[in-house]
Amino acid sequence: MSLSSREILSKAPVVPVLVIEDANDAVPLAKALVAGGLPVLEITLRSAAAEESIKRIIAEVPDAITGAGTVINAKQMERMAKIGCAFAVSPGHTKSLLKAAKDTGVPLLPGAGTPSEIMYLLEHGYDMLKFFPAEQQGGVSMLKALSGPLPQVKFCPTGGVSLANLGDYLALPNIITVGGSWVAPKDAVKAGDWATITRLAQEATDKVAELRG
Ligand code: 3PG
Repeated sequence: MSLSSREILSKAPVVPVLVIEDANDAVPLAKALVAGGLPVLEITLRSAAAEESIKRIIAEVPDAITGAGTVINAKQMERMAKIGCAFAVSPGHTKSLLKAAKDTGVPLLPGAGTPSEIMYLLEHGYDMLKFFPAEQQGGVSMLKALSGPLPQVKFCPTGGVSLANLGDYLALPNIITVGGSWVAPKDAVKAGDWATITRLAQEATDKVAELRG
């Protein structure tokens, strides 16, 4: 049975945002993150190896909840549905992307940053959104202001979120979880330093557990 965006995000202390350049790194990277308590993975379609990486993780890391990120058009959405992604994330939204999400049934976390964008997505049945790029769009103070008129919407902020500021985000009432790339630094992936990645993931998992009591 497939999970909704809300169910998926509530299983994620943090969503690692991954750019995988070499598909051979995909499985050990996913295993390292899952071992550190982060099962919900966003593999962005920003590299040539992305699709093959997603396929391998789905096949070989059953404890991961594997989603595609940077899904920006209907064609990509259809492709991700075909290969079995659990969810898809977009930095924004278009009419045709929303239609493809509906047609394929893949839970989509669409991006929004302004009241009008949020209202448009609410009209289309989305109350779980990506807030991107979080820091550049006003970060914590913007999200706090949006919770006044639009309290029914929950956000996953990404873009400039790290261990240092995730507590400020999670303290807000309208945050379901946060996402970011800091748990999988490029140099650690390149070096195959999976222990460091598990340590960074565990550090994030522990911090979120501590903040949420
Ligand atoms: C994203 O794609 O969601 C962000 O680019 C991740 O941002 P970060 O690299 O600042 O964590």
